[in-house]
Amino acid sequence: MEVIIAPDRHKAALLVARIVAKELRADPRLVLGLATGRTMERVYACLVDLHRGEGLDFSVCSTFNLDEYIGIPADHPCSYRRYMDEHLFAQVNVAPGRTHLPDGMAPDLGAECRRYESLIQAAGGIGLQLLGIGSDGHIGFNEPLSALRSRTREKALTPSTLEQNAPMFGGDPAAVPRRAITMGVGTILDSRRCLMLVTGESKAAILAKAVEGPITSMVTASALQLHPRCQVVVDEEAAAHLQGIDYYRWIFANEPEWAEFRGA
Ligand code: GLP
Repeated sequence: MEVIIAPDRHKAALLVARIVAKELRADPRLVLGLATGRTMERVYACLVDLHRGEGLDFSVCSTFNLDEYIGIPADHPCSYRRYMDEHLFAQVNVAPGRTHLPDGMAPDLGAECRRYESLIQAAGGIGLQLLGIGSDGHIGFNEPLSALRSRTREKALTPSTLEQNAPMFGGDPAAVPRRAITMGVGTILDSRRCLMLVTGESKAAILAKAVEGPITSMVTASALQLHPRCQVVVDEEAAAHLQGIDYYRWIFANEPEWAEFRGA
């Protein structure tokens, strides 16, 4: 795992978008794993800018989102499908048929989870997986005690997640669906590269647990420590509780891989 500290949330999101753009230019058929949440909105805005300004081409890539709420239709204003359409898909040249999210309205949710895993496999696996972190340390909707080898399945959301996501549902935690389909931790760890973005002081404590704490199903983001190629891009606020901050800065300043991304 590598931690990259950007001066602020905007530069952090831009850095993530530039890493995505570099991967997509190197492999236009990239299979992208996508995440939702307010943190990611800035990344998608940067990718839309790169598409419009520099012709970043999404036409032959495929996308798989981490998760979707159960029980709300795709056209519900708070569905993750709607989020993706609004923030990215409708604004770039991705082929709609190549964009995938679990179907939270499927009559047989177990079969839908298995279908989603098969689709990912049939696409050749995820090349680059974007991730945020929940206030309880989740990735996707892998809530505390999710098996670290779990696959796509249904999960009940914790009260803290309902609270965190309430602003998107008019501020009322009771309005947030209680369950979701999510890629499992094992599904996420199978991605060839993971890129997590964490910003803001409210995430500082959970970020430190995920990056520097023990690997535990209580903080499913900590499983990323097992991943052979995982970068965590953070802003100064989110980095506030990290013990190894000087070392992380030194790595970013000295690794040749990051030369083109420094000072951006
Ligand atoms: C939801 C998503 C997660 C995401 C999290 C962060 O819970 N299921 O994948 O990481 O939101 O949200 P935000 O960026 O709004 O803090």
